[in-house]
Amino acid sequence: MKPTDLSRLSDELKQQTISELFDKDSMRAEAFSARSQSLSIDYSKNLISNNVLSAFQQQFDTLDLHSWIQRLFSGELINNTEQRAAHHTRLRDVPADPLIEQTLASCYQLCDDILSANKTGASGQRFTDVVNIGIGGSDLGPRLAADVLKNKQAGINAYFISNLDSAEINKTLAKLSPETTLFIVASKSFATEETLTNARHAQRWLASSSVGTGSDQHFIAITSNHNKAVDFGVATDCILPMWDWVGGRYSLWSCIGLSTMLCAGKQAFQQLLAGAHVMDQHFQQAPFTENLPTILAVLEIWYGNFMGARSHAVIPYCYALRKLPSYLQQLCMESNGKSVRRDGSPVLSDTNPIVWGTAGTDGQHSYHQLLHQGTQTVTVDFLLPLSAGDNCPIAHQKLVANCLAQSRVLMTGQSLADAEYRMRLDGYNEKDISTLAPHKVMHGNMPSTIISFDQLDAFTLGEILALYEHKTFVCSVFWDINPFDQWGVELGKRIGQQVDEAIQGKPEALADLDGSTLAMIKRYQQKNQRR
Ligand code: F6P
Repeated sequence: MKPTDLSRLSDELKQQTISELFDKDSMRAEAFSARSQSLSIDYSKNLISNNVLSAFQQQFDTLDLHSWIQRLFSGELINNTEQRAAHHTRLRDVPADPLIEQTLASCYQLCDDILSANKTGASGQRFTDVVNIGIGGSDLGPRLAADVLKNKQAGINAYFISNLDSAEINKTLAKLSPETTLFIVASKSFATEETLTNARHAQRWLASSSVGTGSDQHFIAITSNHNKAVDFGVATDCILPMWDWVGGRYSLWSCIGLSTMLCAGKQAFQQLLAGAHVMDQHFQQAPFTENLPTILAVLEIWYGNFMGARSHAVIPYCYALRKLPSYLQQLCMESNGKSVRRDGSPVLSDTNPIVWGTAGTDGQHSYHQLLHQGTQTVTVDFLLPLSAGDNCPIAHQKLVANCLAQSRVLMTGQSLADAEYRMRLDGYNEKDISTLAPHKVMHGNMPSTIISFDQLDAFTLGEILALYEHKTFVCSVFWDINPFDQWGVELGKRIGQQVDEAIQGKPEALADLDGSTLAMIKRYQQKNQRR
């Protein structure tokens, strides 16, 4: 099967609409649905056919997807540019792995000591608040999980500091007392400027309080660079390991999850791991057309490389998942935002689309206008809990209704005739109809996939996040890119340091900077001098 066949199939399918595919096949919804233990996906409202699925299956057989999956799970050094494994799945296969079991046990023990006040602050008071200082993979995962799973009965309050702008840490510390605040410095490299700057800020805050010289009792570090954490002043028995075979954006499942354990409780974290592990087994065992990560990857590649979509919206109709789009931006865009193949040669097609989104129904009152009447093809994942859980059942029913309506209207749109017909029903006169109806036409034929689940608990969250991790991996196999490195972030950091030195007046740092940067540095220097 040549890629050209996929192009031919896309040319053929572009002659039809999603609605027409439903008209031709009353069983379409069932045929283009699949499920895992707690997740169901309905991808029938995409312009896709069984021919396309089998064409992709042949393509992935040629690319030997099956052995790529085995290599991922076996811990082979598939992160070829850093010569590392990407073995985050090992973190959730707990009983099978003494190192993981032991490390998690020490995490749980520390968690118990903090929650039971065996471990307290320098003043002997129990910790009531934990502040995770980290950025990227050392922030987005734990921040999302804590937001979804926090539980006052099981844990303490958790706060997250990632931004270099001290407005964030000042705003947070203003709510807290030094005596009862524990800081987690989460940094795989223990070299990230934002994290070290904020950690030093926290150190000064503690030192200038009654905690004084006892501030080291208020710090835990999670890092693969033990010595740097010791140099920073963290007690050695409060340094938890990270390993180079776990990528930052795949690290929620590791000790990086400590803040989640502390605010949601151990059981919730164990359920998170269990849900992800079940998705790992599904990914390894489910046949191609029933394999949720593979199907989502096929939809991404199909629309991105053959149907002209350049962005993907993730819209959870679930307030608790409002931080999911930000988490997925790093997972998907830092993984597959690449333009060279594993061998360094240029990629053969577009790679990852722009990932964006917010919680529904807020988007309906902001950007859905563009989804319905804009000129962009945007693929959409709607995430939908079917049970209200502790929330108001009436409001939840309306939330579900709105989600299903948005997915339907993206598909059906509204023709000129429909618009005119509705306007007549609404009593408009013919003159207004002829003027206004064209503005009410909606193109439709926009793809959307509904990922539904009973209710959002730790297990389901684990499945959802592992689903997107594996989708990302399958896409990387098709594009033949390494999804586990992120070389593109390094230069900006280095120039950031150079500009910082230039602002401090180091002449050598001014060399080879462009006129615009030099002018901005001058303006900044003048502004600060005037103060
Ligand atoms: O700059 C990007 C990045 O390296 C991410 O990949 C990573 O998740 C984040 O920075 C934080 O890195 P660290 O955990 O080493 O502080």
